[in-house]
Amino acid sequence: MKLSFLLVSLYFWASAQSHDIYVHMMPWFETKESNGGTWGIHWTMANRNPDNIIDGKQDIASFYHPEIGAYASGDPTVIDWQMGYMKTAGIKGIFLDWPGTTQAMDYPKNKENCEAIIAGTERAGLQFAVVYEDNNLNLAGVPDKIAQGTADMEYLQNNYFSKSNYVKVNGVPLLLDFGPQALFDANWDSIFTPLNPKPTFLTLWNQHQQGGSMVAGEYAWVYSNFLDGLNNWYNYQDVPLKVGVAYPGFNSFYEQGGWPGPGFTIPYGTDTFHQTFDLALQHTDIIQICTWNDYGEGTVVEPTLEYGTQFLDIIQQASGTKYTRADFEENTEIFLLRKQHANNATMLAHLEERYRKLIHKHD
Ligand SMILES: *[C@@H]1O[C@H](CO)[C@@H](O)[C@H](O)[C@H]1NC(C)=O
Repeated sequence: MKLSFLLVSLYFWASAQSHDIYVHMMPWFETKESNGGTWGIHWTMANRNPDNIIDGKQDIASFYHPEIGAYASGDPTVIDWQMGYMKTAGIKGIFLDWPGTTQAMDYPKNKENCEAIIAGTERAGLQFAVVYEDNNLNLAGVPDKIAQGTADMEYLQNNYFSKSNYVKVNGVPLLLDFGPQALFDANWDSIFTPLNPKPTFLTLWNQHQQGGSMVAGEYAWVYSNFLDGLNNWYNYQDVPLKVGVAYPGFNSFYEQGGWPGPGFTIPYGTDTFHQTFDLALQHTDIIQICTWNDYGEGTVVEPTLEYGTQFLDIIQQASGTKYTRADFEENTEIFLLRKQHANNATMLAHLEERYRKLIHKHD
């Protein structure tokens, strides 16, 4: 009895060690300071104002509130705080929601934030890969989607794929698409024409047939069919490469926030996270946590006022990293001191060194 318990524990410990855990990250949050005097739309949706405090919390378009308050995605101090948590949880890197190079809506700003975040992954010794939002070609009303898609791929090749911390699978850059929703089938072959080498390309689950001739597989996502959907996909979907998913729930703010969007609910908390994470550990080598910070959809594992580091505690244990909870506390302390002493260059240099030590403690 005891021996079998030990063996099962060892199995899960050993299997978690051999997994690559990434988090899906949104680059689209803006504060008044970062956004010319008005809060970004992902904190407000149609009807919220973070300047209003309700029950001691900012009135943002989410049921969950960041531990550090509503932030700007491009703020390097915020980015170091986020990357510091990822590193100390044993997360390998980020899958970054990338808007493309279309000049419309808030996409240029989001892309700029992506590049600040990529610089943050380099400081923290984390990896990154891009999740391309091909649906933006629809939302922005791009007239020639193939031309814009091709320009986006050339941009990725010239600016991101060559970085030493870009995720490679089968020896070539990993590229995920959040769809397809705008480009289908042979469109992908067209836009990949300038790429050398061709990426390891994944679509959303159950959509690889729309990914053209170079599609390598699929990644799972959160959906209303919850564990049934995940079990079906893990057990029966036949594609060469699968990236599994772990999520804490789905509790979207769209209805309250006056935005269109899916209205289903999956209970948010550590039970859901354990269930989805365990399934992913059993079935796939690469796992994407969905999500780091999609506050609007309520899928956040980033530390919040409501849940603290509960999800990161689970990840830290499963990843087998040598970091401990005390390192989480050190990370937030460094962030708070950086904000407090933002005008003291001597102090900032000292804090930067403290961050560097934390990040490289177990290299
Ligand atoms: C800045 O920080 C240094 C180091 O902690 C401290 O000695 C100094 O007094 C601070 N300067 C100001 C103006 O607060």
